[in-house]
Parts: sequence; structure tokens; C-alpha cells
Amino acid sequence: MAILYADDPNDAAAWARAITALDSSLELRFWPDWGEASEVDFVIVGGKAPGDLRRFGGLRAIQSTWAGVNHLLTDPGLPPERPLARMVDRGLTVSMTEYVVMHALDQARRGPELRAAQRARRWLDLPQRLPGDVRIAILGLGALGVDAGTRLRDLGFDMRGWSRGLKGLPGVACFAGMEALPACLSEADILICLLPLTDETRGILNARVFAHLKRGASLIHAARGAHLVEADLLQALSDGRLAHAVIDVFATEPLPPEHPFWKHPAITVTPHVAAITRPGTGAEDIVENYRRAMRGQPLINQVDRAQGY
Ligand code: NDP
Ligand code: OXD
Repeated sequence: MAILYADDPNDAAAWARAITALDSSLELRFWPDWGEASEVDFVIVGGKAPGDLRRFGGLRAIQSTWAGVNHLLTDPGLPPERPLARMVDRGLTVSMTEYVVMHALDQARRGPELRAAQRARRWLDLPQRLPGDVRIAILGLGALGVDAGTRLRDLGFDMRGWSRGLKGLPGVACFAGMEALPACLSEADILICLLPLTDETRGILNARVFAHLKRGASLIHAARGAHLVEADLLQALSDGRLAHAVIDVFATEPLPPEHPFWKHPAITVTPHVAAITRPGTGAEDIVENYRRAMRGQPLINQVDRAQGY
């Protein structure tokens, strides 16, 4: 009986320390040294698997250290009948909330305009809005959207949130389903995307969606590159529909040097660093899921493969 670590080799020692600190009886092996394939009953992967996992005939479950499992779900080497868990890590959640709040405050206080004015040595005396006069719409009210939305609500912003099933989040106007999307977006000053990438959400950040926002709104996108129709973003920035976009995730990563986003004056690029899983906190769910898998119980944060997240 062994757990096979098949995530980033650079993080292997940290994960091994965190997992064995919780249970020193667990036997860890490291890709590609899995020994006897039939002895591997649990595999830890990152955003992608390094190879075909169907060779492990006794596999009970697969655990991702990533929150988003879109790449794994389209991997032909992932045994379709085995349970797959995604990561909900409090370390990752804190970091995502920090990222979202930092950029939302910067957009609300018109940071990009102030920085441009400084570069031009121009004394720009901007009018100030109170947070209650700034409407923020968050797409995705899951582990990450709820945490970020709650913090922004506590700062006094006029909050809206959108999910598949209707949520009840005090102080946040909640909307559910495609037909309610325009109402959620209506006249928003800042749009934040924290959705999983699925067949329904691919390309959701497009011209039709931008048209519902307040003219001159900002986009903060930290979900997946394929949510965004890049040409529609460039058009919306050039015609003033959007004033600024903060983008952490891209259709091609790393973002190629010749990509227009790098030098665009109204785009802030961050290199998929909004939030990462910490072994020190993430290991708790992994050990619990290993035990559940061995007992044949449902996993924590088990992915619903039909829904795609
Ligand atoms: P969750 O699964 O907890 O939440 C997903 C949310 O999206 C839920 O509220 C869900 O609705 C909603 N949703 C899914 N499909 C639809 C749809 N078709 N229409 C409306 N709402 C929908 O995910 P997390 O919050 O943990 O993570 C979200 C994403 O953030 C990840 O999938 C990943 O892509 C990205 N991410 C990016 C990182 C980065 O560093 N840039 C780091 C970590 C994550 P419901 O609640 O009804 O199910
Ligand atoms: C994740 C990510 O999904 O880092 O965890 O994007």
C-alpha cells in the first residue's frame, strides 16, 4: 500500500514532510519511482498528471493539489472510474482573497490612472468614491469566491455574486444560472472571475458580458485563461467599455513574449501566481482523503465529473 507523489518534483520534499508529519506510517513513493505498480493505491497530482495513471490497477483515488481540475478531466490517462478530489486549502484561499482584495481596492482607488499620471509628472486630483458606491460582481461563489466576496463586503463594497445553484450570502446579492447573469453584472464597476473552467463557462468573459458592466469598468480574472475571449477584451479596452484588466491566467502559459497583453497600458499581467496550495495546510485533506479512499468512502471535495468541477 503506497501513496505516489506525482506533482512538481521541486515541491516533493515539502509535501513529504507535511504528509508524514501527520501520519508517519504512510508510505510515500515519488514519480517515476513507483516500484510495483500494483502497490500504488493513491496518487497525488498537480494541475496535470505526468503520465498515464491507468497503469496503477489498484488505484483507489486521485488527489489534485490544485483547485482547478480542468486539465485533469480531459486527460485520457486519468482512470475515469476512480474518484478524483480537488484541493481546497486555507493557505490558497487566503492568498486568493489577498490578490482579489488588493486589485479590487487598487481599481476602486483608480491606481492605474494615478500611476500613469506619476509617469507623466501630472498632478491628478481624482474624485473619490466610497466603497458603497462601487459595485463588484464575482462570478463563482465557491471556496474562493465566498471568501473574497465576504472580505470585500466587509470593506463596504456593493457586492453581487453568481453561481450555478442559488447561494445565501449575507450582504451579497446572489444570482444563479445563465438567465440571471445579466442582472448580476448590471452596472458593475468591477468584475471578478473565480469560476472553474467547464463547457458552460469557457469563453464566458466576452463582449456580451462586458456590455452589461458600467462603462469604464475593470476586470480581475484569476480563474482560467480559456474563460476569456482575448480579442473581446482588447476591443473593450480600446473602445472604453473597460478601463483596465488584471489578468493572472492565460490560454497559453507561460504567456508568450510576443503576446499583446504584456505591453498593453491597460492590462496588468501576473504570471498565474494569484494563489498556490501550501503543503503545510493542504496535507491535512490529502491524508484524510487517503484514509477515506482506503475505507471506500466519498472524498472531501470530490470532483463531480459530469459537472466538470
Ligand atoms: P469551487 O468549485 O469551490 O467554486 C466554483 C464556483 O463556480 C461555485 O460557486 C459554482 O457554483 C460556480 N459555477 C460553476 N459552474 C458554473 C456555471 N456554469 N454557472 C454559474 N456558476 C458556476 O471552486 P474554487 O472557488 O475552489 O476555485 C475556482 C477556480 O479558481 C478554480 O476552478 C481554478 O480554475 C481557479 N483558481 C485559480 C488560481 C490561481 O492562482 N489563479 C488558484 C486556485 C484556483 P455552485 O456553488 O452552484 O456549484
Ligand atoms: C489551482 C491553480 O487551480 O493554481 O490551484 O490555478
